[in-house]
Amino acid sequence: MNFEEVQSYNQLKKHSVFLSDTTISDLFNQDSERFSKFSRSYEDIIFDFSKNLIDEKTLDLLIKSAEQLDLKEKIKDMFDGVKINTTEKRSVLHTALRSDLKEIKVDGKNIIEDIQTTNDRLFSFAESIRNGDFKGFKGNRILDVVNIGIGGSYLGPLMTIEALKPYKTPLINFHFISNVDGTDITETLKLLNPETTLFIISSKTFTTAETMLNATTAKDWICEKLGTEAIANHFCAVSSNVALATEFGIKKENIFGFGDYIGGRYSMWGPIGLSTIIAIGKERFLEFLEGARLADLHFKNTPFDKNIPVLMALISIWNINFLGVGSSAILPYDNYLKYLPLYLQQLIMESNGKSIDRQGNHVNYNTCPIIFGEVGTNGQHSFYQLLHQGTEKILCDFIIPVLSHNEKGLHQINLLANGIAQSEALMKGKTKDEVIAELKKDGLSQTEITKLLPYKIFTANRPSNTFLIKEITPKTFGMLIAFYEHKTFTEGIFWNINSFDQFGVELGKQLAKRVIKDLENPSNELLNQYDSSTGSLIEIIKNIRK
Ligand code: F6P
Repeated sequence: MNFEEVQSYNQLKKHSVFLSDTTISDLFNQDSERFSKFSRSYEDIIFDFSKNLIDEKTLDLLIKSAEQLDLKEKIKDMFDGVKINTTEKRSVLHTALRSDLKEIKVDGKNIIEDIQTTNDRLFSFAESIRNGDFKGFKGNRILDVVNIGIGGSYLGPLMTIEALKPYKTPLINFHFISNVDGTDITETLKLLNPETTLFIISSKTFTTAETMLNATTAKDWICEKLGTEAIANHFCAVSSNVALATEFGIKKENIFGFGDYIGGRYSMWGPIGLSTIIAIGKERFLEFLEGARLADLHFKNTPFDKNIPVLMALISIWNINFLGVGSSAILPYDNYLKYLPLYLQQLIMESNGKSIDRQGNHVNYNTCPIIFGEVGTNGQHSFYQLLHQGTEKILCDFIIPVLSHNEKGLHQINLLANGIAQSEALMKGKTKDEVIAELKKDGLSQTEITKLLPYKIFTANRPSNTFLIKEITPKTFGMLIAFYEHKTFTEGIFWNINSFDQFGVELGKQLAKRVIKDLENPSNELLNQYDSSTGSLIEIIKNIRK
């Protein structure tokens, strides 16, 4: 079943038409209690969704839809290890990485034991890097850690190490190489001393083309600088493919695996988090997991009307499927959260960017929004023009930590004011009368005012959510990310899609293999097998590179 097939769908449809005659500002004017009715808090996070075109009836009907879709049972299925990733026949148990349960079974095996054993190894390996016990080939301690990986084997650690920078050891620098573009690795290697560098090859499969090419180039560099015997001292791996990682030259004890019940974009809570553990240490990493665990408990046990990730999803569904708001902006007002939009792009779009339902049918409704974003206030001087006056409405998530790790003079007050004011501006806009009054005050003539007027009006009624977070700590950050994971899952239930496979990334990779061959082929005879654009582009590239 999808959300269109449940009883409340027609009522929701009707209600969206009814609400189209009103504005979010009207709803605030009609109800002084609106903020308390449409905001929820959990631990140190407040989720304010009052600046959306919703009323109590909307919420009620959306919650009924969630019930009619058996959301509660489906959440339970995920936590219990039911193979809800049906196309790949896998359980979805990233929650097990942060669970305090003693037993979760997959195919009759208790995976908690495996997770704990791997965690013990991870923590002691990370500690040996942090305290200098682990030595490079020449006996030096490690000063630079380089994560080579892409997608879920890159974005989570990149985002988290940046987000938790105030907790990071000052003794070690962290670098990320992901792109197959040789510039990525070349520029990174320029910064490094091979004697003090450790590469973490992060790849669940150990076959991803970009990662393997980068890993090989890094290995060649180590071999050239220190000799082949140095490989074991300068490489470790996070991978389920122990055979390939060993073949690469990595010692078995420095390979950290995880089960296929952990999807790539949900993997930073386990071994893929190795660079994060080295950066912030075991205790802080455990706090990060604890934040996510609390979010898990909240998601699993809280009634839908108080359940933050469920409400996040309901607001999203309402905007996308009933109000036609097809994109969503992630707007963190904290420089340390600068990679959050990037991370959520993969989490949300790789999970839900799909058009085939769980029964193999084409869906006839919109699914995943387009996700983009930037830290405030940089985004304000970039794409916010479109947020305020563009032809499309965008659902904005303002993520605002109240306390800064860098309370410098007026900076934080300014930042906070900007975040809050933007959501107010999107909702309230600026009316014709307000513009006229303002321009008159500025001394403009009537002719000038008439000319400028349409450009200065803000049409208002643009939706947003605000997450007010006391402070970014490992715990609050873990909780925030887990909320987004569960929101993504819940949306998948409404749209009746499998949020846990990613077949859409395969075709381009497959075709690239053939293009590589034809780019390397001295003859052009096979190029007529392509369409004329692709074939010509290949030919031109070959001519330029001759
Ligand atoms: O982009 C496709 C994908 O499979 C992601 O889901 C995954 O995070 C990424 O590639 C990297 O995969 P691996 O960890 O196997 O190298």
